[in-house]
Amino acid sequence: MEDSLLKLKNTNTKDAFRYGYLLNKMFPYIRAVLSRSIILILLAIPLGLLDGVVAFSLRPYMDYVVNGNEAQVFTFQGYTIQLQSFFIKFIPFAIVVFALIQGLLKYLCNYLTEWTGNTMSNKLKIDLFKKLTAMDTKFYDINSSGLILSRFLSDPDQASKKLIETIKTFILSIFELLALVGVLLFNSWKLAIIGVGVMAIAITPVTLIRKKIKKVSNETMVVAGDMTTNFNETCAGNKIVTAYNLQESQNHKFEKQVKAQFNLAMSLTKRVGWMSPIMYFICSIGIAIVMNYGNSLILSGEMTAGSFASFVTSLLLLYKPTKTLGLTLTNLQGTFVSMARVFELFDLIPEIKNKPNSLELKNVGGVDFSHVTFEYVKDLPVLKDFNLSVKPNETIALVGNSGGGKSTVVNLIPRFYDVKSGSIMINGIDVREYDIVSLRNSISFVFQDNYLFSGTIKENILMGKPNATEAEIAKAVELAHLDEFLGTLPEGIDTVVGERGASLSGGQRQRVAIARALIKNSPIVILDEATSALDNESEAIVQKALDNLMQNRTVFVIAHRLSTIHNADRIAVLNEGELVELGTHDELISKPDGRYKYLYEMQFA
Ligand SMILES: Nc1ncnc2c1ncn2[C@@H]1O[C@H](COP(=O)(O)OP(=O)(O)OP(=O)(O)O)[C@@H](O)[C@H]1O
Ligand SMILES: [Mg+2]
Repeated sequence: MEDSLLKLKNTNTKDAFRYGYLLNKMFPYIRAVLSRSIILILLAIPLGLLDGVVAFSLRPYMDYVVNGNEAQVFTFQGYTIQLQSFFIKFIPFAIVVFALIQGLLKYLCNYLTEWTGNTMSNKLKIDLFKKLTAMDTKFYDINSSGLILSRFLSDPDQASKKLIETIKTFILSIFELLALVGVLLFNSWKLAIIGVGVMAIAITPVTLIRKKIKKVSNETMVVAGDMTTNFNETCAGNKIVTAYNLQESQNHKFEKQVKAQFNLAMSLTKRVGWMSPIMYFICSIGIAIVMNYGNSLILSGEMTAGSFASFVTSLLLLYKPTKTLGLTLTNLQGTFVSMARVFELFDLIPEIKNKPNSLELKNVGGVDFSHVTFEYVKDLPVLKDFNLSVKPNETIALVGNSGGGKSTVVNLIPRFYDVKSGSIMINGIDVREYDIVSLRNSISFVFQDNYLFSGTIKENILMGKPNATEAEIAKAVELAHLDEFLGTLPEGIDTVVGERGASLSGGQRQRVAIARALIKNSPIVILDEATSALDNESEAIVQKALDNLMQNRTVFVIAHRLSTIHNADRIAVLNEGELVELGTHDELISKPDGRYKYLYEMQFA
């Protein structure tokens, strides 16, 4: 097993620069919103142009006001345009109308941006979640919850909403810029060269700091992931935190993370914060030059006052789209980084998957382990040449030292992991040949600490068989010895159990889990330390429930308390990943130097 194949990276991946690859991956999501995106872009064009129109209209108006001319005449490249004073008087009203149109377009544009962005992001999140539920047990072993969560919290939004937003802003700013530069040129090309030149100098710092932003945002992601893990652990492990008085150290850990985040934010501000003032400063120099030079142009009659007013207005309006365009590249880079992170998760290939032409598992017979070796970590074998044949409807107990590999043996049957070599067979066929869903449908698990989902007891039981009838539910509740307990609850089976079933006792949780397994009614049952968290009294009642579950099935039972496995048909003793003894209780207990005899006497001496 190669760990790195399922390991998410903490930071940006090199993929963030494979634009073609990423866009190709993104394309299905873009296609789903394509028509509205095109409308959006088409709307952004007039929206961008309108600023220029407003600036442009200032020229005839100002000239009209300043000179009191009845009719305005301007020539442009040989064409003569004459504006009647009648129209000129209407310019203020026209500006209001334009603002109205602009407002309407803006509204439509924003609406479409939100719609397309969210639609894309949702689709991405749903697919990402599907990917998550399809991942192997191993994926969850090697990736922290914080790291996984970080792929959901902001990346899908950044990869899609931000992308749409950036494209829209880009189009808008380009046309805003074009229109305004057009107005500048129209008014005075000499001044325009100065104005645009200064603007170009002003935005260069924006493009220079991109690398720095990237580095800091990388580090921020790592800290944010650690923080999420800390949150999860504090919630999930709150009892341990309380029991071991770990509050101080948890607080300290969190404070350190907050501080690290603060430092990163500040270092970004330090690096980026000077940009805006500098841009303003450079621009102010430009405007000073323009005003000076413009003054002389007006005096020499080369330019009218209206034309100058229109020019300066355009130049001021030009600042925003220029700055935005400067940031577009940074933003776009950000969305590509997010895309790379999203598709990194998408591209992970679960190791455990169906073979082509997989078989449907039905009529489960015996389970055979043949020369099974297995390791979680490379070159650290956990099972070594493990052989065991379990007959149909046999109850086999696995005992042995802690860490000896008992849980590992049973985890291999439903393919939580795959063997390294050898094979596990059901009905004489390798489990890897079976359709995974049918394989897992044939197996019920009861663990020491069973996970209950937030919701009602009934919902938790129904997870074993979603379409169960009321009669089946009642039967499972009865066999799991839950009926008496449910009778004491005002809401009965519809009682909400809270996250992880926190509001139930260990024995109650265990019996809910048994009811879930009972209703699933699968031919193979695996009990991994199912009673070891309970006191004697609850163990007795849970044991009764388990006895019901074990009837007429092939059962693997793991228990440290050897009293609970007395009734097993056979007992397999594992030591350090090897099967050392196999036989009935009576056979094993009579072996003079037997391992089982030793374990048994240890417990009952
Ligand atoms: N997810 C995992 N990743 C890496 N190593 C693991 C993983 N799960 C178990 N191991 C290792 O594999 C070995 C066997 O573990 P296993 O859980 O099968 O033991 P066990 O016999 O069930 O022990 P116990 O009686 O304490 O439950 C142990 O050394 C353990 O550290
Ligand atoms: Mg175990």
